[in-house]
Amino acid sequence: MALQSDKSISRVSELTTREGETVKLRGWVYAIRSSGKIAFLQFRDGTGICQLIVSENDMSGDEYNLATGLGIETSVQVEGTAKVESRAPGGVELIVKHLTVIGQSEDYPIGRKEHGPDFLLDKRHLWLRSPKQAAILRIRSSVEHAARLFLHDEGFFEFNSPILTPTACEETTLLFEVDYFGLSAYLTQSGQLYSEAGITALERVYCFGPSFRAEKSKTRKHLTEFWIVEPEMAWFDAEDNMEFQERFIKAMVAYVLEHNEKDLTLMKRKPEDIDLSAKAFEIITYDDAVKDLKANGFKTEWGRDFGAEEEAHLIKKMETPFFIYKYPVEARAFYIERDPSDDRLALSSDTFLHGEYGSEICTGGQRASSVEFLEEQIRRLKLNLEDYEWYLDIRRYGSVPHSGFGLGIERTVRWICGLHHVRETIPFPRMLKRLSP
Ligand code: 4AD
Ligand code: MG
Repeated sequence: MALQSDKSISRVSELTTREGETVKLRGWVYAIRSSGKIAFLQFRDGTGICQLIVSENDMSGDEYNLATGLGIETSVQVEGTAKVESRAPGGVELIVKHLTVIGQSEDYPIGRKEHGPDFLLDKRHLWLRSPKQAAILRIRSSVEHAARLFLHDEGFFEFNSPILTPTACEETTLLFEVDYFGLSAYLTQSGQLYSEAGITALERVYCFGPSFRAEKSKTRKHLTEFWIVEPEMAWFDAEDNMEFQERFIKAMVAYVLEHNEKDLTLMKRKPEDIDLSAKAFEIITYDDAVKDLKANGFKTEWGRDFGAEEEAHLIKKMETPFFIYKYPVEARAFYIERDPSDDRLALSSDTFLHGEYGSEICTGGQRASSVEFLEEQIRRLKLNLEDYEWYLDIRRYGSVPHSGFGLGIERTVRWICGLHHVRETIPFPRMLKRLSP
């Protein structure tokens, strides 16, 4: 019999609506606690956690002995009566009548004691199962799904940019080089330049995929492989771009609030910690941010991007997400439009989430329209002009004002979940000193 043809199997997330019914579940036992003639088995499937009540009153002696002697992470099928119980993990219990072992598990390496991050990352393939990690991954999946839902509602098309690229989009020092049949290729840093070509066909596109950066520093917000969603829009200027980001970020957070209530509870994140619906994102100019930093004892030089401590200072003061807008041209990538009212400035913004877990989550801006200006910028950065001829063609043939941005999934999930480090927001993190498992 095909395993899925058994329609009597339920999933943990359905239990609250099945109070009093006899249901069957399949999943894993992640903890056991006995007290006299009753045992409490912490159980999880892919949708969440619940508590199994195992008692000699409700099941045969053999099955009771089997259930209370299970090794941690044994996979089982259970049958019993569903009961809503707010004090139980996951808020629901199953009074078990039958239990069958599907896959044995002995001496599971991750125990109840505290493990260090290196141990847990070495065992990431197992650590993923712990209820908190699974909750983070469900929230991540919601963020990604919400991003796509929102963008399609707004008339966007998903546009797959290449992963193997001949040129840099961002910092050339952060490229991962691969041998491409004797030529040098690089793993993509951003699909943006390709999406700019995409808008001339489809007007509103987004690419969504991994980005690779050879980051040599160890920080809490940098991975060498991370996921980025990059909307690019024709007929949007830099201000439209910021207004759109605000709605986009709010939509993703609202989706998580609606669909991941139990996961957020498990993360000890309260709705009011992340609810952005009543918050207006503030816009602060780069100039004002520099003034603020100087007034607070920082030796910030006008013309440079902010360092980690400067960023932390700016975030700490804020109670809403915010943009920093109009950076100096030399602090931005080559493709950003200059401010018509002050050509030292670029029509580019960074977007920050506020509070303890906040950081820059997006960079974006209006794209330069002049071929001459772009050529000048490409030369300034000592990039090979020939490599970008195709990109300049976008301006040569029917150029339109356009803007876009890239949002980092891991930093967004980190903020929603209230995590100190981005390494827990992705199934298998890649960092300076970590390539496995
Ligand atoms: O600021 P970045 O480098 O901007 C771009 O790549 C633009 N081409 C995007 C665009 O306009 N389409 O990257 C965008 C975002 C950052 O704000 C951050 O959230 C995330 O990607 N990010 C990283 N996340 C984790 N680890 C890293 N090393 C990251 N580098 C950037
Ligand atoms: Mg940036």
